[in-house]
Amino acid sequence: MSTPTKSPIPKSLQPFLSGPKKLLINGQWVAAKSGKTFDVFDPATDQVVAQVAEGDAADVELAVAAARKAFDDGPWTKMTASQRSQIIWKIGDLIEQNADQLAQLETLDNGKPVGVAKAADVALAADMFRYMAGWATKIEGNTIPLNVPYAPGAQFHAYTLREPVGVVGQIIPWNFPLLMGAWKLGPALAVGCTIILKPAEQTPLSAIRLGELCLEAGLPDGVLNIVTGFGETAGAAIAGHDGVDKVAFTGSTEVGKLIVNAATGNLKKVTLELGGKSPNVVYDDADLETAIAGAADAIFFNQGQVCSAGSRLFVQQGVYEEVVAGVSEIARNMKVGNGFDASTQMGPLVSREQHERVTGYLKAGLEAGAIASAGGGPIEGDGYFVQPTVLKNATAEMSVVREEIFGPVVTAMPFKDDSEIIGHANDTSYGLAAGIWTRDISKAHKFAKSVKAGTVWVNCYSIFDAALPFGGYKQSGWGREMGHAALENYLQTKSVCVNL
Ligand code: NAI
Ligand code: MG
Repeated sequence: MSTPTKSPIPKSLQPFLSGPKKLLINGQWVAAKSGKTFDVFDPATDQVVAQVAEGDAADVELAVAAARKAFDDGPWTKMTASQRSQIIWKIGDLIEQNADQLAQLETLDNGKPVGVAKAADVALAADMFRYMAGWATKIEGNTIPLNVPYAPGAQFHAYTLREPVGVVGQIIPWNFPLLMGAWKLGPALAVGCTIILKPAEQTPLSAIRLGELCLEAGLPDGVLNIVTGFGETAGAAIAGHDGVDKVAFTGSTEVGKLIVNAATGNLKKVTLELGGKSPNVVYDDADLETAIAGAADAIFFNQGQVCSAGSRLFVQQGVYEEVVAGVSEIARNMKVGNGFDASTQMGPLVSREQHERVTGYLKAGLEAGAIASAGGGPIEGDGYFVQPTVLKNATAEMSVVREEIFGPVVTAMPFKDDSEIIGHANDTSYGLAAGIWTRDISKAHKFAKSVKAGTVWVNCYSIFDAALPFGGYKQSGWGREMGHAALENYLQTKSVCVNL
């Protein structure tokens, strides 16, 4: 395995990185009221690359007031849907026009390979805005025939209006910083909400750039406010604010529960996209070459920092050794390094904290009796690198099998047949995604029906599309992102009943 190398930060980013980055409040870039800033690190080198305003409750107060004014007074909420649609579409265009810079910011902030950032994160973000731009003009209610048993002979004309929920707080994580922004902003803007967005403290840069692009696209003042800062201060202030009508969160299940508690003050609506421990099942009748490559990609994509990662690999016993050997070989040959190197296949983890968390799990797993058939520990050096790891001999009660590691670590476990696999697959408090590899279509569909997961991939993994709903069963969350299902998060239904 190659060792991480250092690459210079692209010169083209220097103008954006110079000077502390500010908060976006009411269409203006402003310092935090406290005057405080925090450091942003390059995870490949552990060097500080930018300073960003540290917003807290006082700034959230201003952001909520701006969003409220923009919602109550317009012009955003008074525009035609077609006008809103054109602005949202333009955001997609501007993302595409700035694709290289946005991809570089993701690599600098998050560590992921720059080619992946451009092909996946940036392209999907642009597409999300365009998909949602199309929905803006298609938000419709119904006309409903009434029967009212206690008003015989009376005639009514009844219909529903679909209205934006109002001011929304959106708290996003660091694994796909730009894309999570797009997933959240797209549907909220399409229906006419106004927003306070809080990016993760580890990765605020692309959200700030996205804010600039939103203004350039013509988004009116106060529609999008961005408060960079920490979860316990800025995030908690958004979740607990009585002036916020709805909060949407992506992150850990632990913080998801805090958000639910914080929302009780004004009973704001809550949607959550949380952790996962997704089963990925390989049957002996699968096309093994594709399944092995797919199983490796399911866990190693984005350094394993994917909520839907295929982190529990179940392989039918007859092909267990072959599949584990294949995935392990891919792991051992992966080029781990700085995301700015064109040859890098896997970058560093996002932060020192995440590096400690993942290496802590590896240690616990190995001590409990799991055996690493590839990787198994950190990679020494300045950045937050770990080895792509395949663990054998893991058992159902180990923390590496039960808990979300959020790193490039897969546990590979054998199974006998159909009778036991659903039990194994569903033996988790999570339910975000699942994968199955087989040539038997009825086996695949039966599995898809019985597995408790919001997304099931058959003979593929990690396929995301703006049109395909994504979200969790069980403790993986509430509500769906993407697709028209995402619009539901930001709409409420008003029934109007007219006596004719
Ligand atoms: P986190 O859940 O603490 O952070 C996610 C977002 O929530 C960030 O913007 C953070 O500032 C904010 N936040 C944190 N505490 C908050 C609070 N009390 N009130 C309001 N907002 C708050 O995740 P963290 O600590 O960065 O990672 C821990 C674990 O969470 C990871 O190892 C992984 O297992 C999981 N995770 C899952 C993600 C997913 O996509 N579902 C994304 C990120 C982390
Ligand atoms: Mg946290």
